[in-house]
Formats: sequence, C-alpha cells, structure tokens
Amino acid sequence: MRSLEVALGNRSYPIYIGENLLADSGALLGQLIDARQALIVTNDVVAPLYADRLRAGLLDHCARLEGLVLRDGEEHKSLDTMALILDALVEQRMGRDGCLIALGGGVTGDVAGFAAATYQRGISFIQVPTTLLAQVDSSVGGKTGVNHPAGKNLIGAFHQPSAVLADLDTLTTLDERQYRAGLAEVVKYGLIIDAPFFGWLEQASTALNARDPAVLAQAIERCCMIKSDVVAQDEQERSGLRVLLNLGHTFGHGIERAMGFGGWLHGEAVAAGMVMAAQMSARLGWLEEAEVSRIVRLLQFLGLPIAPPPVGAAKLLDHMRLDKKNRHGQLVLVLLQEIGSAIVTQDFDEGALMQTLAAAEP
Ligand code: NAD
Ligand code: GLY
Repeated sequence: MRSLEVALGNRSYPIYIGENLLADSGALLGQLIDARQALIVTNDVVAPLYADRLRAGLLDHCARLEGLVLRDGEEHKSLDTMALILDALVEQRMGRDGCLIALGGGVTGDVAGFAAATYQRGISFIQVPTTLLAQVDSSVGGKTGVNHPAGKNLIGAFHQPSAVLADLDTLTTLDERQYRAGLAEVVKYGLIIDAPFFGWLEQASTALNARDPAVLAQAIERCCMIKSDVVAQDEQERSGLRVLLNLGHTFGHGIERAMGFGGWLHGEAVAAGMVMAAQMSARLGWLEEAEVSRIVRLLQFLGLPIAPPPVGAAKLLDHMRLDKKNRHGQLVLVLLQEIGSAIVTQDFDEGALMQTLAAAEP
C-alpha cells in the first residue's frame, strides 16, 4: 500500500492507495471513525459490487453503521439528491461527531461531500473513490457540490475529507469508456506540471491500457501527489495555481454542454479539450508542433478522442462562455507553454481561438 498526505495544517489527511483496501478499511479508517455513528452513501451500481466489503471492514469500528443507496448518474448530482442524504442524516439523528462515507465515483463523492459540508454546518466525511477519475482527481482537494439546471457544479462548498481510501481492485469492474475517461485526467497532470511524468506515461501506456495494477498504483500515486501539492498551496483556487487543473476543461465543458450531459463523458471531453488547448498554444507560438503531436499520440493510444465533435464553432464558443472561470465576460483559458508547464490567461489572440474552434465545424 502507498500512502501520502494532503498537508493542510490541522485539516491534513491521508490518501491510501493499494489493492484490497476495502477489506482493510477498519485498520486504516477505524481510528478516524472512532466508535461514532457513520453513514455509507453509495449508488445502485456500486452498492452491489462493494458496499458489503466496506461495511464488513468498518462495522466493528462504528457505534452504528447505516447505508444509503442513491440512483446512478450525473443527472442525480442535484439538490434533490442532496436533500435525500440530509433527510437520512436527520432520520438517523446523526450528531455533529458523525461521519459520512462516500463510496463511488465523482458524482457520489461530490454530492455526499456537499451534504457533509452542510449538515449541522459540517460533519466529517471520508472518500472511498471507485472510478479512476475519482481516485486521481475528485476525491482529493475538497471540492464538493451539485449541478443546477443552468450549469455544472454551480452550487457547492470547499469541505476537505478526513481521509481518502483508493482501492485499486475496484477499477477492475469499471467499464472501458469510464476507465479511459479517467486516463485523460491522468495525462492532464503530466501536461500541466510534470514533464517527466508525461514521458513516463508514454512509456507506460501499453501497461495502462491493460490496467496493470502496479503501473496504475504508480500513476495514481503521482497524480494524487501533484494534486495534494497544488491543493496545499492553493486550497480555494485563489492564487491561480489550482486553476491549472482545469487544462482542457473550458473546451471540454463546451463540448459536454453542446452534446448534452451524458453524450460525451467528462474525461473524453477533457481529452479533446486538451488537444484544442495544445493546438491553440501552438498557434500562439508558445508550444512546439512536435509537442502537440506527442500529446495527440498519447491520448489516441489511450483510446481517447483527439478532436471535438462536429457541433459547430459558434455553438461551442457559446457554451464555453458559460464557464465559471470567465471574468468580466471574457474567456479565461489554461494553455500550454510546453509539456509540463501550463499558464492561465485572458490575454490571447482571438484569431488563434477561432481557428482552433474551427475543428468543431460540421
Ligand atoms: P460517476 O461517479 O458518474 O461514475 C461513472 C460511472 O461508473 C457511474 O455509472 C458509476 O456508478 C460507475 N462506477 C463507479 N465505480 C464503479 C466501479 N468500481 N465499477 C463499475 N462501475 C462503477 O463519474 P466519475 O467519472 O467518477 O466522476 C465525474 C464527476 O466528478 C462529475 O460530476 C464531475 O463534475 C466530478 N468531478 C469533481 C471533481 C472535484 O474536484 N470535486 C473533479 C473532477 C470531476
Ligand atoms: N478538478 C479540479 C480541482 O479539483 O480543482
């Protein structure tokens, strides 16, 4: 097992990564739960696969252990679902010392974390991520929230978990598209901040495609290290550092919205978005064409899209204008200076953007 820490003073917390960790959850998390009341929140896909294993691990460590099974899907990352969780907490008379445990992908972690952030003004929660995306990104860093009909993640709070437990065994049941969507976020870390990691991913790409557990453990650990470091320095996205984690996301959110949520997975849209950010950076004269080709080659080898769907440049731009990062009506983009070095900027030639968006013309 590998373990690392998100260093946030007295709110620091461990991330455990390894095989068979659900069975070991009592030894790893028992002290944190400390004979208190706990609620496992999961969904109807993950519950039959993993809830019993987690429950068995934790049972002896809780005064009372309950479960709540939500409906699967991004469309259920909503205030209504959050209300269901809050109702369950009230019904169980959970005290302020209670603990909520989110077992599932990013949707479960985000909505359950948001409920934990608000119930009695905040109770502790533990992330048990079961998708690759959740293990490398959403379970770490304390962004919690739900969608609003007007936009994704519009309502939420920063609320750090008290531990993250990433069991690699859970990734074996993840379907191929979901797994590859998680790989897009893995590549993102190399691109924004860690050129040697990007090079390592190129070498390891065949093993990653085969879900080799040893290679996956290394990749997940590296991503969590980078994310922990970024979060420790810029927890609430104030200094401009954490915003770099959004490479490819403005283009990607545009694609997701243009396709209707669910049409393209988030990671698929981010992959095409990272290629667009790279191409635009090359048009601006910042990134070498050879580097763009490396990015395209790696994402393509990992089975990810490397171009936007033919939704039309104007439509894509309209959707990108709704991005939360934008300031004073102006697009804010994360772009690349080289592999391993990203910047956030509002200052770019509009022509380079329009030429890049032309890739989305039918
Ligand atoms: P998800 O939670 O919808 O999971 C994807 C699918 O896989 C779902 O159908 C889920 O039920 C299923 N699943 C989960 N674990 C499984 C397993 N082990 N085996 C088989 N099936 C499994 O989606 P996701 O990709 O994990 O997360 C996406 C969400 O995360 C989005 O809502 C996004 O906004 C959010 N997100 C949040 C952050 C953050 O910092 N909080 C960062 C990135 C993304
Ligand atoms: N996934 C972006 C962030 O956590 O800031």
